[in-house]
Amino acid sequence: MEAIGIDIGGTGIKGAVVDRISGTLLTERFKVSTPEGGKPADILESVATLYEMIISAHEQDSLPVGVCFPSVIRQGHTLTAANISPEWIGLDAERMFESKLGTDIHFVNDADAAGIAEVKYGTAKDIPGTVLMLTLGTGIGSAMIHNGNLIPNTEFGHIIMDGVDAEKIASSRSREKLGLDYAEWAKALSRFLELVTTITNPDLYIFGGGVIKNHELLLPYIKSDVEIVPAQLSNNAGIIGAASLAI
Ligand code: BGC
Repeated sequence: MEAIGIDIGGTGIKGAVVDRISGTLLTERFKVSTPEGGKPADILESVATLYEMIISAHEQDSLPVGVCFPSVIRQGHTLTAANISPEWIGLDAERMFESKLGTDIHFVNDADAAGIAEVKYGTAKDIPGTVLMLTLGTGIGSAMIHNGNLIPNTEFGHIIMDGVDAEKIASSRSREKLGLDYAEWAKALSRFLELVTTITNPDLYIFGGGVIKNHELLLPYIKSDVEIVPAQLSNNAGIIGAASLAI
């Protein structure tokens, strides 16, 4: 029950072999930089390099591979490109990676992978009902999971708020760009949550992303009728979730 998980992000591409029963990493976490511009052909090369690093560190080859990526993924195709090169739009990415790596892979949205990891192995393990994970980074990713089943590609970061995509005013990067302190950021996030709650009425929110390491700076300021918990698996959630979905 081992699988390789690969997480393609804006600055780095990370991967490892994962034990799909416990959700723990069985190798070190390997990393290569995301090539400048994030174009498909360059990312493909970098992922192939990373894949070689992972399989040469692990005796067993031909493991299932899961890859997560910041785009709507439908039937293996990358359909959107909010914070990545527009060249990704409409590509049959899953097939492209399969022929480059010479193995079957499963392609999935990055937030969906992180959410599944938190529900299977992390902070929302065994919680019934609807769990909604929001990842706060360059954009806002979302993962909606009902009784352990993922409803993929929810993309709540693109809900319109104040006339623009919510992630433009409520993501971690926009906090930095707009020079907001945590209390001001929390106000924008609270309004965003109100919108998401109106549509989904989840039982629990999980907040993830790099900033959640310091969640005590943010979570106490957020107003929400629904309980919010910080993610547990931090940097490894994408890798673990992608591996767990690789079948
Ligand atoms: C993308 C999502 C992604 C999120 C987090 C958004 O801009 O549209 O697909 O999950 O960023 O990376």
